[in-house]
Amino acid sequence: MKGKKGYVMGVGTAVFATFIGGRLLQKKLARQTTAALPGMKDRRGYALITGASSGIGAAYARRLAQEGYSLVLVARREDRLAALAAELMRDYAITAEVLPADLSQAADIARVEQRIAKLDLSILVNNAGFGTNKGSLLASDLNEQLDMLNLHVMATMRLCRAALPGMIARERGAMINVSSISAFFPSPGDINYPASKAYMNTFSQALQAEVARHGIRVQALCPGFTHTEFHGTPAMTGFQKGRIPSVMWMTAEQVVDESLRSLERNRVICVPGRRNQLLVLGAQNGLAALVLRVARRFRHRGEDR
Ligand SMILES: NC(=O)c1ccc[n+]([C@@H]2O[C@H](COP(=O)([O-])OP(=O)(O)OC[C@H]3O[C@@H](n4cnc5c(N)ncnc54)[C@H](OP(=O)(O)O)[C@@H]3O)[C@@H](O)[C@H]2O)c1
Repeated sequence: MKGKKGYVMGVGTAVFATFIGGRLLQKKLARQTTAALPGMKDRRGYALITGASSGIGAAYARRLAQEGYSLVLVARREDRLAALAAELMRDYAITAEVLPADLSQAADIARVEQRIAKLDLSILVNNAGFGTNKGSLLASDLNEQLDMLNLHVMATMRLCRAALPGMIARERGAMINVSSISAFFPSPGDINYPASKAYMNTFSQALQAEVARHGIRVQALCPGFTHTEFHGTPAMTGFQKGRIPSVMWMTAEQVVDESLRSLERNRVICVPGRRNQLLVLGAQNGLAALVLRVARRFRHRGEDR
């Protein structure tokens, strides 16, 4: 009961922030823009998308195929990737290659790095990721947490690094790192997910500063609740989608549309959806501390802390 009250207070604060702060946030994000990427529209080249077997990654694949990019699709479920590649080659007359890899494993990351080195890569989308719903750091499965850090942090960093020589030589390219709105909300009971996404944001901001002079754009995409397979994986068992108000959800297609629009405007941190932007604004103005307090008091009663 009290947890519900705290949750309602948090949402209320965010909605209030909508009215007073939307423009403020837009101005702040606009300050993070840099020069336009030359030649992107004229010369498509390849897009390599990790986590393309479902959800946001599959939506990127469809959108970029529609725009004429050749694709390399990466994930573990090869059958899914093959079906998507066949669909996109048929519908858009593009090349779509399947590259099965478990990006929590160093050897598989290395294989993708090697493929990147040989590609005329225009866009890298580091999208593969997963969340867990297993409680405190102590209660969590250490191997699963290590896999998450390898996937969100190591794979993102290594694949961006692998893409740099080619993009610098061609003086163009874009890297989209799919982070999360949770990067702005430290969350007891789910420590490493927001922490690893916060890494992606900071990494992307600094990398953009390093490579802007080469005509390369970097984006950290921070979606909020998005209808995908994310909340239905075994690692998320027990998560109740129904507890999240329906207005807070977006589709993967909406998220990808906002990401690509924002990339044209060259904003590093991209928060799709007005409601999510307000939550971020709230986080930067005390909402994160409120959520942390509420979560500490109500979320893990009875569990070790
Ligand atoms: N949905 C949301 O509400 C939400 C909100 C904020 C951020 N995000 C972020 O959005 C990204 C995409 O997630 P989604 O929502 O589209 O969920 P999804 O439908 O579950 O897709 C996740 C993708 O990541 C791939 N993947 C997971 N572990 C992998 C591994 N070890 N190696 C290679 N690929 C792996 C999965 O493919 P395989 O299983 O075939 O390997 C799948 O293609 C994630 O980074 C997630 O953190 C999602």
